[in-house]
Parts: sequence; structure tokens; C-alpha cells
Amino acid sequence: MRITMIGTGYVGLVSGACFSDFGHDVICVDKDSAKIDGLHAGKMPIWEPGLDNLVKANVDRGRLHFTTDLAEGVKNAEAVFIAVGTPARRGDGHADLTFVYQAVRELAAHIKPGTVVVTKSTVPVGTGDQICAILEEEGATEISVASNPEFLREGAAIADFKHPDRIVVGAEDSHAEAVLKEIYRPLFLNRAPILITGRRTAELTKYAANAFLAVKISFINEIANLCEAVDADVQDVARGIGLDNRIGPKFLHAGPGYGGSCFPKDTLALLQTAEKAGIDQRIVRTTVEVNDARKGEMVDRIVKALGGDVAGKRIGLLGLAFKPNTDDMRDAPSIPIVEGLEKQGGKIVAFDPVAREHAEKLMPNVEFAGSPYAVAQGADALVVVTEWDEFRGIDLDRVAAAMAGKVLVDLRNVYDRAEAEGAGLHYWGMGRGKPS
Ligand code: UGA
Repeated sequence: MRITMIGTGYVGLVSGACFSDFGHDVICVDKDSAKIDGLHAGKMPIWEPGLDNLVKANVDRGRLHFTTDLAEGVKNAEAVFIAVGTPARRGDGHADLTFVYQAVRELAAHIKPGTVVVTKSTVPVGTGDQICAILEEEGATEISVASNPEFLREGAAIADFKHPDRIVVGAEDSHAEAVLKEIYRPLFLNRAPILITGRRTAELTKYAANAFLAVKISFINEIANLCEAVDADVQDVARGIGLDNRIGPKFLHAGPGYGGSCFPKDTLALLQTAEKAGIDQRIVRTTVEVNDARKGEMVDRIVKALGGDVAGKRIGLLGLAFKPNTDDMRDAPSIPIVEGLEKQGGKIVAFDPVAREHAEKLMPNVEFAGSPYAVAQGADALVVVTEWDEFRGIDLDRVAAAMAGKVLVDLRNVYDRAEAEGAGLHYWGMGRGKPS
């Protein structure tokens, strides 16, 4: 199949590279010439494990191409995927579809009849209908418009793409359905479930999935608060409920609240869709409120762990990215935590294995250290914000010896309490009984 991917962000680049790895002929289009030049030179615009090798292998085999020329990129395509950004709109928080509609207008003049235009970006219900209207307005005829939302996670994007729990295809005609089935044939052969639905249903399924996962996280975060008050352990509670197949074990890790480029944005967009439809979504609305409040609660927790006053104290943060295995700082809980602590006079020193470059732009007053031990040096408290694997193996005795204070606030439950206490640290876990 000849596939064009418009947009080389997370979803576009990973999907494009994976489709080419299935043997399809893929051309990725992006307006950003620096990005395209970089890709031609083998430089990835995002930090994602395994992506550079996957891109290189398929470029070398002549199946993966990059261009800034949209007209050239789409003219021979059998399917054009739109994977441009749909950020939260300023003001109401709904998904901003400017880039999607702009791309559709631009490609309309260059695609040939029979092409299937597919939204891979997360787009609100009804976007496919709008795209049909734009294509008609622009004089593009016999074009199918389908929805094929992506469920990959940053940091595990390639594995998620190649071994999906399911593929959702929203198609309104048999041609679009057949083309998408052909594109995903390698995955069906591996028995990945495919769900063929109406276009609107597919669009909504993506939001419902992310909202449900956000609900799970906020739920366990509230249970963690309760665990602290009643001296119970949230990790055991999560395991105890997660072993029930109806609940499932995933997305039950208590932490500083969800962040990233998807959950915060998609929950808000779902609420906007619901409001427009006159349907109150109380559970999602409350989930958003719980998550927003959580960031402030994390600041309060650290202040409390330091005896109620952080003015002039040196606070070491381990991890800044919104989760491990990414350099993505979008909506990272570390941002409001740093702001909150600095506002109260705290001095922040931080280490993140890959997000430093992005974080430096957002956190001008933070001192960046080169290792977890350098962060610990002279710190009054150490706070685990992101659960990078490399933090799990650090020598807590060495850390404790380097610190000025002996407080370890573990917002991700990375450490064993007994071990931390054995190293002489006061341990503040997340929902694991009362702090020591
Ligand atoms: C999320 C979804 O997991 C993907 O399925 C979806 O495709 C993607 O959004 C998207 O819409 O594009 P992602 O944002 O990359 O993926 O990251 P997640 O691994 O889902 O984590 C999101 C946030 O939830 C992170 O801040 C993470 O720390 C937090 N989280 C996750 C928890 O606090 N506890 C958990 O148990 C799981």
C-alpha cells in the first residue's frame, strides 16, 4: 500500500515508521523543514526507545521517505493519515482542529479519487463529517473519510503499535474498510482484534478510553489518600482489586497525578463535547478536578515532610518528565510542583535522564545536576517525581550520607520503606501508611 502520513509528531512518526516496517511504502510529510532535514540525517525529533533504528532500517530499505512537500507527498497515496497535533484550545479547552482542517484543505487539490483520508490524530466526534464537507467544498471527489485512533503510549510506542490490544476502525463505506484492513493485515495475522465501527463511534472510543484510564488513576490516587489516613498500603489494595479480571491490574499506580500530552487534553475535550451535546459527564469532570488539585497537594506534602517550611531549603527532585522513557514535559506534574515549592522559597535542584533540555526552558530557576547523587548532595529532602528505572537501583546509604536532611518523599513508590529507613531516611511513600 502507498501510505502518506501528515505530521511527524509522536503518533505520525511512530505510525509511519511501523507501517513501513510492515512493508508498506510510506511517505511522511511535515511543514517543519528542520524536522524533515533532521529525519533525513537520521536525527529523531522525539526521544522514543527504538525509533531511530526502526526509521533507519526502513529508510535504508527504501520504504520510508520524508518530505515537506504535501502536494508531492499525497499525489500517489492510497491512504492519507492525518496525524497533526490537536492541542487544547485556549479558553474552553476543546481540541483545536486548526492543523487538521488546514491539512485537509491543502491535500484536497492533490489526492486522486479513491483515496482514503484517515484521522489518526485524536479528534472530537463529528470531525470526520467536517472533513467530508471540506473535501467536497474543495472539489475533491470520491474520497472516503475514516477514523483510526491510535492507542500507543510514549516510551512504549513501537511495541504498542505492533502489538495493540485492539485496532479501531471507523468507516462509513466498504472501500475505506477494505483499505484499512489491508494496511493492518500483518497485525490481523498476529490475531490483533479489529473493531469496525461507525466513524463517530471510533472518534468517541478514543476519548472514552483515555477518560476511563484517567478515572482509574484519579480513583487510586484518592484511595492512596485514604490509605495514609487509615494506615493501609495502596499498592496492596491495587493488587487486591487488580487481580479481579473485571478491574484489571493496570493504571492503578498512585502518583502525583496524570500528565502528558493526552489525558489532560482529552478529558477536557470530552467534557466540551458532552457540554455541547447537553450531557453532563460528572465522573470525568470530577476526575479532572481531582487531578488538578493533586498537584497542589504534592507541594503541601513536600512542605509537610520538611517540617512545614521550605524557605531556604534545598529540595532535590529525581525525574521531571511526565513519565519515564520520554523527554516529554507537557503537563508534567513536576512543573506545578517546582512552581509551588519555589513560591514558598524552596531552592530546587533536579536530575532527569533525558528531559533536561526541555525542562531547562520551563524551569529557569532550577539547578540541574548530572546524577541522582549530585542531586542528593547537601539536599534537605529528596523527592521522586518520575519513576525512571535507573532511580530504583541507587545506593540509598550513599544518598543519605550525601544529604543535609534525611527526608525521602517518594511520589511514585519506587523504594522499599524498610530499606529507606534502614539507610536512615524518613520515608514518605504514596498511600503506604503513615510517613516515618
Ligand atoms: C496515553 C494512553 O495510555 C495511550 O493509550 C494513548 O494512546 C495516549 O495517551 C494518547 O492518547 O496518545 P501516554 O500519555 O503516553 O499514553 O502515557 P501513559 O503511560 O498513559 O501515562 C499518562 C499519565 O498517567 C502519566 O503522567 C503517568 O505517570 C500517569 N499514570 C499512569 C499514573 O499516574 N498511574 C498509572 O497507573 C498509570
